Parts: sequence; C-alpha cells; structure tokens
Amino acid sequence: MNWWAENTDPAKYQKRVDTKPFKFIASQYGEDDSIIEIGCGAGVWADNHKFYGKKGMYKGTDVTPEYVEESWKQHPEFQWEVADANWLSDADKTWDIGLAIHAIEYTMGYEKPVLELCRVAKKKVILCFWVGFTDNEDNAIRGLNAEGGMQYSIYSRKLFNSFLDSIEGWNVTVREQNVMDGERLYNYFWILEAK
Ligand SMILES: C[S@@+](CC[C@H](N)C(=O)[O-])C[C@H]1O[C@@H](n2cnc3c(N)ncnc32)[C@H](O)[C@@H]1O
Repeated sequence: MNWWAENTDPAKYQKRVDTKPFKFIASQYGEDDSIIEIGCGAGVWADNHKFYGKKGMYKGTDVTPEYVEESWKQHPEFQWEVADANWLSDADKTWDIGLAIHAIEYTMGYEKPVLELCRVAKKKVILCFWVGFTDNEDNAIRGLNAEGGMQYSIYSRKLFNSFLDSIEGWNVTVREQNVMDGERLYNYFWILEAK
C-alpha cells in the first residue's frame, strides 16, 4: 500500500474537466494523436481527452493499483496499466504524446520519468507541475505531512532546465509557462518536441 491508496478514495478522486490548464494541454496535441500518461490518478485526463473530442488512443499508467482499477471502471474504452513512471513497459516510440500532470513531483527525481516519456513518445512530451520550482541549486525532497507519508519534490529550475536541454533528439519549446487555474492555482508547463 502506498500513501495514495491508504489516504484517498479512488472513487471520490477530485474530478476536474475543462479547466484553463487542461484547455492548454488539449491545444497541444491533435485529434488523432495517441497519448500515454504517467501518474494518471483516477482517470482525470481520460475525462478530458474525451471532453475535448480526441479520437486517438489514450493509455493511463499509475503506480497505485486502486487508481488504475477505478479508471478501468470509468473508462473501459482506454488502456490502463499499473506502472512505476521510472520503468514503463512500452516499446520505444509507441505513442505520439507523453503526458505528466502533477505526477513527477512524487516520483522522487525527474530524470527517469522524463527519459521514459521521451523514449516511448514520438512527437511531444507535455509536463505539468503544480509544485513550484526553486532557484536553489539543489533538488529538495520535502514531506507534505508531519509523518512524511506523502513525499513530494521541489526541484531546482536550473538543474531541471539543463537536464531537459541535455536530452538527445528533443528540444524544449515551452519552459515554465504558468497557466493559471482558479481552482488549482499553479500549473507550470514544460514541453519538449522531437527534433
Ligand atoms: C497528485 S496525483 C495526480 C494524479 C493525476 N495526474 C491528476 O492530475 O489528477 C499524483 C499521482 O502520482 C502517482 N505516482 C506517485 N509516484 C508514482 C510513480 N513512481 N510512478 C507512477 N505514478 C506515481 C500517484 O499514485 C498519484 O496518482
């Protein structure tokens, strides 16, 4: 059991459809593009993928089996898999688009999850963070609650940018663009496009 399974009810997971940051994500890929998401939670992007009329296949992956199970129930038309974002099972260049929404904050380091998305995606990798970045040059791991039960990371923008710039075959086209959302204020985007 992980923090998410122990402390949240997947069936009551906070649904968000058609928010400003989600409009932005939807505007970033074509109607027929296929898409894989890491840390998908209980189907929030699947709701939006449908809402925005996307026709391409969607696959949601998450390390928490309870979320994946709930997502299957809600969206049997899509693919779902229990997977750690550090090790995706997909072959190279299987999907047009790779997506992470409020997920890489929890993976205890961004390198592997971002490299995995760049490995399995062909066209674009869309990264959305809600935890702000810092000007410190260290990547800090912070506990969210007193017990340190759920850990999230605050990353150094300098280290993150130089890491993204070092990924072979990809260009960073959007850097730390904040798309405000009334409900969840912080949504910082980074987008990589295949060269
Ligand atoms: C804040 S929730 C975001 C969920 C969803 N993307 C959304 O925006 O509603 C963070 C998610 O990351 C997942 N997660 C945490 N560590 C992970 C890992 N190593 N690999 C894959 N998913 C992970 C959790 O299970 C949880 O569903």
